[in-house]
Amino acid sequence: MSETAPATGRRKEAHVLVCAQYSEKGGVGKTSTTNGLAAVAAERGMRVVVVDADPRGSATAELGITDTSQIPTLNDLLAIPDHGDPIDPAEAVHDALQPAGPDWPSTVRVIAAERPLAHRETDPNPIEGRLARALRALDGEVDLVLCDTPPRPAGKLVAAVLTAADTVLIPSSLTTDGYEGVVHARRSLRLSRQGANPDLRYSGIVRTIVPREHDRRAIHDRIEADLFEQWPDEVLDVQLTEYAVREEARYACVPLTLAGGQYAKLLLTAYGQLLDHVLSGEDFGL
Ligand SMILES: Nc1ncnc2c1ncn2[C@@H]1O[C@H](COP(=O)(O)OP(=O)(O)OP(=O)(O)O)[C@@H](O)[C@H]1O
Ligand SMILES: [Mg+2]
Repeated sequence: MSETAPATGRRKEAHVLVCAQYSEKGGVGKTSTTNGLAAVAAERGMRVVVVDADPRGSATAELGITDTSQIPTLNDLLAIPDHGDPIDPAEAVHDALQPAGPDWPSTVRVIAAERPLAHRETDPNPIEGRLARALRALDGEVDLVLCDTPPRPAGKLVAAVLTAADTVLIPSSLTTDGYEGVVHARRSLRLSRQGANPDLRYSGIVRTIVPREHDRRAIHDRIEADLFEQWPDEVLDVQLTEYAVREEARYACVPLTLAGGQYAKLLLTAYGQLLDHVLSGEDFGL
């Protein structure tokens, strides 16, 4: 028998886990973390869906979808036509699930982004709950949903993702933007918990694009120390080191699991540890 949580009406029984990678700042590793997790999850045999909520479509491109003009996208799922009956996202979601490119495992599917998705930011319709409804319809069919987000403080796309998410991971590079992105993302998570998504969990901060020893400067140490000082319990042990092979995989639009060599292996181990952490369900509170 299913148990019902009165606050949200969500079923508490196992449903597809939705993890969002979110920071307010750009270039801090959101997309790389999303697709890195997708690659290792798929290698473990999990059925994965990547939701690309960034209209620039970086995650979509790395997942091998180059032409979005002929496929239903997240934009179609969120948009409500001016006339006629609105389409129920719980029904439309199956059409929007597109297979990732041929180099990706067949268990990876994508709800793609396209440029017009940017118009949804200012959509006057109440679209924020549509992704949540769509993803709930995937219970039992998918094991993990990973959402990539645009670098924005708020707006309807971020709201749609934070409403749909079970948990949020905050990627932070060892830069000023990385740190600032955490400050503001934590605030957005708190607001989401106080509003649309009281059950939203927080999986903590993952250090990304971490320079290797010979590239590491005093400023990186300083920002890392700031992260630990400010949020000592939230910075994860696992970190994602900067290796050219990650950029190469992205350029080639292939999963990192296809790349050979010791650095790919090291990064895959780190993504695997991060996946274990996300799947553990640990919630850091805010
Ligand atoms: N571990 C890594 N090693 C090398 N390069 C990396 C690594 N992780 C990310 N990068 C590169 O760093 C850049 C920024 O990463 P990414 O695109 O994931 O950030 P983002 O937060 O999604 O940015 P945006 O907000 O612009 O979408 C990209 O060029 C990416 O390929
Ligand atoms: Mg990105």
